[in-house]
Amino acid sequence: MSAKPAPIYADNAATSFPKPREVIDTVSSVLGSMSLSPGRSAHQYSLECSRLIFDTREALADFFNCPDSSRIAFTCNVTEALNVGIFGLLGRVLHPGDHVITTALEHNSVMRPLRYLEKTSGISISILPVSGDGEVMVSELPRLMRDNTRLIVANHVSNVTGAVADIEAIGRNKGNAVFMVDAAQSAGVFPIDVVSMNIDMLAFTGHKSLLGPTGSGGFYLRQGLSLRPLKMGGTGSNSETEIQPDFMPDCHEAGTPNTLGIAGLGAGVGFVNRTGLAAIREHEQRLCRLFLESVGQIKEILVFGPAADRERAAVISLRVKGKSESEVAQSLDRDFHIMVRAGLHCAPGAHRTMGTFADGTVRFSFGFFNTEADVTACLTALEIISKN
Ligand SMILES: Cc1ncc(COP(=O)(O)O)c(C=O)c1O
Repeated sequence: MSAKPAPIYADNAATSFPKPREVIDTVSSVLGSMSLSPGRSAHQYSLECSRLIFDTREALADFFNCPDSSRIAFTCNVTEALNVGIFGLLGRVLHPGDHVITTALEHNSVMRPLRYLEKTSGISISILPVSGDGEVMVSELPRLMRDNTRLIVANHVSNVTGAVADIEAIGRNKGNAVFMVDAAQSAGVFPIDVVSMNIDMLAFTGHKSLLGPTGSGGFYLRQGLSLRPLKMGGTGSNSETEIQPDFMPDCHEAGTPNTLGIAGLGAGVGFVNRTGLAAIREHEQRLCRLFLESVGQIKEILVFGPAADRERAAVISLRVKGKSESEVAQSLDRDFHIMVRAGLHCAPGAHRTMGTFADGTVRFSFGFFNTEADVTACLTALEIISKN
C-alpha cells in the first residue's frame, strides 16, 4: 500500500496555515506565564499584558504607517472592524438619504451591513463595476460620485479573483467621502500606507497573511474621525463614569481583550517584518505564476481573474468543465490530500459579475509556507481530476 501523501494546505485566503513557530511559541508562553487581563489591575501580570498589547499596537501602526498607534483599535476579526466602521458612521457621517460607493467584489462583511443600512436607514449604494478579468474599474469612480457621497468602501484584494484594486487611485479621487479599506486579503502581502493612500479607515484581520491566530484583528481610524461604538462596557479607563470613553482606542475596546490573539498577532507582524513584505510577495507571486501558467494548459479548466502577468494575489478561482465545484474540492481533499475551498467564498456579488453565481468556483490560495512542489502537486491532481 502506498504511503499517504503529506497534506497540502491551499486555503490560505480562509486562514493562513501553518503559523510561524514564533507565533505558536508566543501564544503558548503568554498563556503559561501571565494572567491575560490588561489595564484593569495594577499588578505586574496586568502591566505585562498591557505592555504586550501596546507593543502589538505599535507594531501595527508602524506596519501601516499610522501616525499614532492610539488610532488602532483591536477587534476579533475584520468583520467586526468593518461593522464598527460602517454602523459607527451612522448618525455621524452617514445620514438618511446619503450615498455610499462600494465595489462588485466585496465580501459579505461589507455588503451585509451596507444592504442593511440601505433597507433601514435610507442610504443609497452605487457599485463600482469589475472588468472582464475581475479587476475593479476605478476609472468609473468620478462618474459615480455625488455631492452626498459620504462613504467609499473597497476591498484591497479580492478573495475570489485575487485582483488588486488600485486603492491609491480611489484615495486620490475620494473627495470628501470617508474612504474605508477592507485589507483582509492584502495586509501582510501588499504594502499599505494609510497616509499616502489617503485611507480614513483600514480594517484588517489577524489570522490571514498577518499570520496571527484567529480571533484577532482591528482597524486604524484617521485622527478627526469618530465612530459610534458597537459595544460599551469596562475599558479599565475613566471607571468613575458610567459613560463610555470617547477617546481611541478605549472607546472601541470594551471588555477584556483577546490578549492571546493580540500577542500572537504581534509575533505574526514581527515575522512578516523580519522576512520582508517584498520577499513574501515575491514568493507568493512565483507560486501564483507557476500555477496559472500551467493550469492554463489544461483544456478542461476555466480560470477566472487577472492573468499571470498582472499584479494579483495568489488567490485563484477556477472551474473544471463537467464537474461540480464541491465534487472537485472533495476529490482534491479525499484523493490527493489537498485542501481548497469551493463555493461562493462569502462574496456572491463577485460571482455574479464573473458569471459563476450560484455554484461559485474552486479556490486555490497559496501562502508563504507553500512550496513549488505543493503547486506542482495541485496541478497534477487537477490534471487527473479533469481527465476522469
Ligand atoms: C475580503 C474579505 N473580507 C472580509 C473577510 C472576513 O474575514 P474575517 O472572517 O477574518 O472577519 C474575508 C475572509 O475571508 C475576506 O476575504
